[in-house]
Amino acid sequence: MLAMNFRGPFRVRADHDKPYPAIEHPEDAIVRVLRSCICGSDLHLYHGLVPDTRVGTTFGHEFVGEIVDIGSDVQKVKVGDRVMVPFNIACGRCAFCQQELYGMCHEANPQATGAGGIFGYSHTTGGYNGGQAEYVRVPYADVGPTVIPEWMDLDDAVLLTDVVPTGYQAAEMGGIQKGDTVVVFGAGPIGIMAAKCSWLFGAERVIVIDQLDYRLEFAENYANAEVYNFKMLEDPVVFIKKTTDSLGADVCIDAVGAEAAGDTLNTLMGRKLLLQGGSTTALHWAINSVKKGGIVSVVGVYGPTNALIPMGNIVNKGITLRAGQANVKRLLPKMIEHVQNGYINPKEMITHRIPLEEVAEGYHIFSRKLDNCIKPVLIPPSAQT
Ligand SMILES: NC(=O)c1ccc[n+]([C@@H]2O[C@H](COP(=O)([O-])OP(=O)(O)OC[C@H]3O[C@@H](n4cnc5c(N)ncnc54)[C@H](O)[C@@H]3O)[C@@H](O)[C@H]2O)c1
Ligand SMILES: [Zn+2]
Ligand SMILES: [Zn+2]
Repeated sequence: MLAMNFRGPFRVRADHDKPYPAIEHPEDAIVRVLRSCICGSDLHLYHGLVPDTRVGTTFGHEFVGEIVDIGSDVQKVKVGDRVMVPFNIACGRCAFCQQELYGMCHEANPQATGAGGIFGYSHTTGGYNGGQAEYVRVPYADVGPTVIPEWMDLDDAVLLTDVVPTGYQAAEMGGIQKGDTVVVFGAGPIGIMAAKCSWLFGAERVIVIDQLDYRLEFAENYANAEVYNFKMLEDPVVFIKKTTDSLGADVCIDAVGAEAAGDTLNTLMGRKLLLQGGSTTALHWAINSVKKGGIVSVVGVYGPTNALIPMGNIVNKGITLRAGQANVKRLLPKMIEHVQNGYINPKEMITHRIPLEEVAEGYHIFSRKLDNCIKPVLIPPSAQT
């Protein structure tokens, strides 16, 4: 079948080398993909920053599609259903899933104590093939896949598999109180959605920091945020302190992760020499610009190896650090409501609709942030009309 195929850092292609997936377990379903996205998380794989990303893997953890086959134990979905599939692969019954911590499922990944299972996200998260393909095997089909409501656009649905719940959870983990000032680092889809959702928790001021003006402009319009280009600020931390009565922000959100720019040493250590699990510049800025007793919420992804963070400042300021992969299934009902009531319009973020055959071009554009790209969606041939 036609699928994205990872050949090594900065090299992906679409080819027909992959066989059609088959039911391997009675709880599996096979989904014919109708839309899949490229995510900032895929860029960490594409840039060679995630260990054990094997040549031949198909990426893609954000996808929607139609169920074309189910295993004998599947009861809640049926052939013909159009479903959105959360990016976490979760069994639904382990101790973690029982607490709705679907991002930490203990059954879906052989490396269970380190991370949960994720579609198309290297062998560190289970080694599953992803949805940047014509078809994908979906384990635990009674748990993750959620039938797309009749009224919902597929372009909205595909962003509910990651971007919307992740942005929401970033704000939720921030413990935002009424009247708070929230600073979001990163104006990619995740940061923009975190900013948009911060208002839902009662924020009084939402600031977004990035270095790309076109994204900041988007964040200003879409999320009603105050925006600043850190390249224009002498020191973002000093700037944030000055603009918050010298106290610091109540909540800071890291929506950048391992590929943060802005500090030469961190870039060298984390992105060039790979001596630590990514560049921690945005995390430093978040820790240093939150107020004493404040909360830093981290949804940006980092590699599993050690990385430098200012631990002394965390202790001295009494900061609470919260982090995690979004527990998509837990949040889906609420997110569907927000799309229905019109507060969140996910598909407005989609700037590029790319045929799956041209996946390499999609990665190139999104990686280089060309052509004012916010979010690219891949369309397999059967869904191209
Ligand atoms: N925890 C989760 O469940 C989850 C889910 C999805 C994505 N993510 C992660 O969230 C992060 C963002 O994803 P995305 O799709 O928005 O990525 P993206 O690549 O589109 O956006 C990242 C943005 O950060 C900006 N940036 C770089 N250095 C910065 C700095 N020092 N300060 C502020 N901004 C800076 C870039 O210019 C870019 O606009 C990634 O690390 C991704 O892996 C996590
Ligand atoms: Zn994603
Ligand atoms: Zn589980």
